Amino acid sequence: MAESVTQVKSGTENMTDSPVAPLAPAARWPARLDLLQSGTGLLLGLFMWVHMMFVSSILLGNDAMWTVARFFEGYYFFGRSLPWLVSLLVGCVFALVIAHAALALRKFPSSYRQYREFRDHMDAMKHSDTSLWYWQVVTGFGLFFMASVHLYIMMTHPSRIGPFESADRVWTDLMWPLYLVMLFAVEFHGGIGLYRLALKWGWFEGSNPSVTRRRLKAFKWVITVFFLALGLATLAAYVKIGIEHAPDYGQPYVPTGITAVHTP
Ligand code: HEM
Repeated sequence: MAESVTQVKSGTENMTDSPVAPLAPAARWPARLDLLQSGTGLLLGLFMWVHMMFVSSILLGNDAMWTVARFFEGYYFFGRSLPWLVSLLVGCVFALVIAHAALALRKFPSSYRQYREFRDHMDAMKHSDTSLWYWQVVTGFGLFFMASVHLYIMMTHPSRIGPFESADRVWTDLMWPLYLVMLFAVEFHGGIGLYRLALKWGWFEGSNPSVTRRRLKAFKWVITVFFLALGLATLAAYVKIGIEHAPDYGQPYVPTGITAVHTP
């Protein structure tokens, strides 16, 4: 043991005053990668809350959703729409998703044997946080594929975001089945992820750990149910508009008094 500490000490900077031997540079990477995974997860989790607020603007009416969509194209800053701004934003989110997924791969069972061992352990433990981790892995795996499809379409067709354009995509382009499954996957994945982050890094910690855990879990469920309900109502709104607009598929929504904002 003493020998291994000496080994670690050699090759590191001067640490004569420190009672604890600093870790060798290579040994710090797992912690750094963990921090990066938490950081990218936190950003994505918060992004999903904001995203759902913007997407659900359709519940306030076509004009509200149109205004939000044009806002992200810089219409209110530059006096015209610049859809590539949306592509840029989607590109950044896509990069975050890829980084988060790559970091998460470290935690996936890498063989059927490892998977079986985990499942047996989970079934024996019957501890709800262990089961939550399992569901986070399963939903995360599904999101690799589902989020990629959605993000690629958003990135390559940024000007096709609007009340009619989105509703056409949801209904006539048959995106609703993907959105329905993805909504459940992302809300469970994000909810569990944020809950686990709060526990892991000790956020909102009170004097009694079991009470903190119980409160965090209750809050997690409230958030998940809220965003699921909002997401389902939003999806239903796009489906309704999509069915009504199907005969005019492809025609963008333009509020009264506005001429076209996209130059062809
Ligand atoms: C900057 C990146 C993103 C943009 C611009 C964006 C934009 C949109 C838009 C405009 C819609 C409405 C439907 C449509 O037009 O097709 C939508 C729906 C949806 N998006 Fe995104 N999205 C982004 C990232 C994501 C990510 C990373 C996820 C999850 C991994 C996600 C999950 C969903 C879901 C589940 C729906 C359906 C909403 C519902 O069921 O109410 N989005 N998104």
